Amino acid sequence: MKATLSVDLTNEISEIDPRLWGSFTEHLGRSIYEGIYQPNHETADEDGFREDVIEAVKKLKVPLIRYPGGNFVSGYNWQDGIGPKDQRPVRLDLAWRSVETNQFGLHEFIKWCQKVGATPDMAVNLGTRGIDEARNLVEYCNFPKGTYWSDLRRKNGAEDPFNIKVWSVGNEMDGDWQIGHQTAHEYGRLVHETAKAMKLVDPTVELVACGSSNHQNETYGSWEETVLENAYDDVDYLSLHQYYDNFDDNLAEFLGKSVDFDNFISEVVAISDAVKARKHSKKKINLAFDEWNVWYHSMGADDAQEPWTQAPHLLEDHYDFEDALLVGSLAITLLKHADRVKIGCLAQLVNVIAPIMTNTEGTPSVWYQTIFYPFMQVSNYGQGVALTPTQTQTVPTYQAKNYEVPYIDSIAVYNSDMDEVVVFIVNKAKEQTEFSMSIDSAQLNQIVEATQFAGYDIHQTNEDQSMTLESLKTVHIDGNHIDAQLEPLSWNMIRINVKA
Ligand code: AHR
Repeated sequence: MKATLSVDLTNEISEIDPRLWGSFTEHLGRSIYEGIYQPNHETADEDGFREDVIEAVKKLKVPLIRYPGGNFVSGYNWQDGIGPKDQRPVRLDLAWRSVETNQFGLHEFIKWCQKVGATPDMAVNLGTRGIDEARNLVEYCNFPKGTYWSDLRRKNGAEDPFNIKVWSVGNEMDGDWQIGHQTAHEYGRLVHETAKAMKLVDPTVELVACGSSNHQNETYGSWEETVLENAYDDVDYLSLHQYYDNFDDNLAEFLGKSVDFDNFISEVVAISDAVKARKHSKKKINLAFDEWNVWYHSMGADDAQEPWTQAPHLLEDHYDFEDALLVGSLAITLLKHADRVKIGCLAQLVNVIAPIMTNTEGTPSVWYQTIFYPFMQVSNYGQGVALTPTQTQTVPTYQAKNYEVPYIDSIAVYNSDMDEVVVFIVNKAKEQTEFSMSIDSAQLNQIVEATQFAGYDIHQTNEDQSMTLESLKTVHIDGNHIDAQLEPLSWNMIRINVKA
């Protein structure tokens, strides 16, 4: 099989917002407790944060982390998580039927973000709370001093404001599982008023309104439209959420989900722009794909969990090789939409549907899932500008139930700071593929690195850490052409040193 890609350094889709490679940590299962925070762990630092996890998170270079939920936030009182730890209340978390000790809260999260080099994306509770709590939280976090909430922050040990820029205004408010679920009209009105109050406290904040929790939801489409009709001028981003499963054990269908993901983004862009046109607005709403991943392996196990315990083993999917291929393909799709998707959050980061897993004790204390590898490579090297294919790609396709799926997904990015073109490629075919590419407006000097994730059984998982990236030895440069022989079912990255 053969596939081609042609790019030109001057032909750009868009600058890639570094926040495209963000992630998400929720008070859910062992994401926080026993994940990022475990004071009795042998690697715990002076704040109770696991240093082994900090090191793993740093490898992913996540620039932005959404917190504290997720469904959790819609029943959360942020004031429970501030002040002396011995005075913080223990509460029921109704979203995940767990017990929340509040030993980790706002200050701990901000401090942890600083240690891993990320900025926060703070979600506010629009389920059981609302305008007042949201504006108080902005004041607590971002106002310098001299008011009740800002001085309370200082009393609690943070003299300087946190200056949180990105805020999620509620979570999945279209879902009837959500505490305080609303109709699109109710939510749109509430966002309008909440955003107004938040921006009155700090006009520099950027706000993300909830889009649909998945595009199969009954209200999908009309939800986005109504929310934006009510709050277009007040918010900066609209969110998208989507998880994929392979319950049917159908590899071709599963790997074809990137087409579904691609269509979903294009549809939300179209809806947003239709509202823009109707409003005669000059403002463009960008997208925050702030929950995306594969999620299904753990669902049976979750049903067997005892409710009302602390840090239960929930949503602990063990990802296999085919999951890594789809995650790579979804990441490529995000890059193809870099002009409109400015924020992305792989959901989630540690233990809960996550690339990083921890053991409470023993070795290895931390292990990397299969999906860790493609995500690490895009987050480290999917930077700069995404390049538009300059010629129609010749890529063979196959017919899935609802889509025609290209066997090869690929994208090239140009990182002028590093003088590199980086190409990411997924081969979804069960046979080797000759990939050939031309790069115009550049002199190609040498291959800096070429790796593949290949050769594994599609259901192999990585608890024993035997699955790794290896060198892709079949890459050659000839003038402005690159050729590579791609292994069947493989994730590949090629970094080329170039002179523009
Ligand atoms: O990430 C797990 C859950 O998925 C989140 O809490 C919720 O927002 C979504 O439904």
